[in-house]
Amino acid sequence: MRKIRLGMVGGGRGAFIGGVHRIAARLDGRYDLVAGALSSDPVRARESAADLGIAADRSYADFAEMARAEAARGDGIEAVAIVTPNHLHAGPAIAFLDAGIHVICDKPLCATRAEADAIAAVAARSTARFFLTHNYTGYPLVRHARQLVADGALGAIRVVQVEYAQDWLSRSVEAEGQKQAGWRTDPAKTGGAGAIGDIGTHALNLATFVTGLGVEALAADLQSFGPGRRVDDNANILLRFENGARGMLWASQVAAGNENGLRLRVYGEKGGLEWAQEDPNRMALTLLGAPKQILTRGGAGVGDAWTRIPPGHPEGYLEAFATLYDEIADAIMGKDCPLLPGIEAGLEGIWFIEAAMASVRDGSIWIPRK
Ligand SMILES: NC(=O)c1ccc[n+]([C@@H]2O[C@H](COP(=O)([O-])OP(=O)(O)OC[C@H]3O[C@@H](n4cnc5c(N)ncnc54)[C@H](O)[C@@H]3O)[C@@H](O)[C@H]2O)c1
Repeated sequence: MRKIRLGMVGGGRGAFIGGVHRIAARLDGRYDLVAGALSSDPVRARESAADLGIAADRSYADFAEMARAEAARGDGIEAVAIVTPNHLHAGPAIAFLDAGIHVICDKPLCATRAEADAIAAVAARSTARFFLTHNYTGYPLVRHARQLVADGALGAIRVVQVEYAQDWLSRSVEAEGQKQAGWRTDPAKTGGAGAIGDIGTHALNLATFVTGLGVEALAADLQSFGPGRRVDDNANILLRFENGARGMLWASQVAAGNENGLRLRVYGEKGGLEWAQEDPNRMALTLLGAPKQILTRGGAGVGDAWTRIPPGHPEGYLEAFATLYDEIADAIMGKDCPLLPGIEAGLEGIWFIEAAMASVRDGSIWIPRK
């Protein structure tokens, strides 16, 4: 099978998610990483490219130059991963889409509504595709849960409880120079959002992906507990879904004892299910009147779609991320991949962030999705 020539913006030495994208792209062997603008610091960009075996003439100090130069090469990149802080998604996304290069962008889509609209406009006219790495949608049991709901196994959905709880911002680590905390707590780099953008968008996406339901309105209560912190670090949000279902979303980065506690519970008129990403190979399913069942990834009654090893051998975060990369490769090759998150998921996330902030400004009022 032909490999896809991949580039990366961000993800140099000391960065977090760029390395995850590279592992995800390698897992099924469908990409070659051949170019990068890997850091905002040109020396670090060059050294990081050398670490990864990227040729010196394809290591760029600037993403705009990279888009131009790669588009002009006969063997230029076909896709680019954008793994920069949120305020640096829109610039590269637009530059590469304009150059006809597929974009694999991390979440949230960008920092502001204006940027989101600009990306959507370019994506609509570009020959290239736009993908957003809401990676939790790659877990086999999350996809199974979605199928159960779509098949009507739970009946009409009534209640959705979703949470993403962490504790790594319990202390003001941004004041101690922690790189990832620094930009995440700077409103100029996030568009004003804290936990709601960083992890709340993942929780929202998981809830809408599994239920297949859009959110019709929300009402938010946001706090910032970190002393002097200018963005929210704890959010309680009420959700109304388009079919009348009701939901609650909790996103917190100050909840001691939680690492990456993403958990979803969905209840319909015939049954309920529960899944947590820290135990991703199991899911609880209860059909009213019957005993609770524990479904396992690849196990009886579930099937082995999107798995790589037999049940009982744990798969996790990296494999789920890799499933997105595998399907993005399929999509680039022209296959229909309806489960992949794209621009619509990104726009929904930006609506969610801005609606939550607008709700709080006016006393936690309900904000409809227009
Ligand atoms: N999907 C997930 O599970 C997940 C997890 C973590 C982070 N993220 C998202 O990934 C993005 C990056 O987060 P992170 O934690 O890896 O941040 P990070 O601070 O660790 O890394 C950001 C990288 O971007 C580089 N950079 C900044 N400006 C640049 C520019 N102009 N040109 C090239 N490179 C530039 C930095 O030098 C650094 O290498 C964010 O949007 C974040 O929300 C997603």
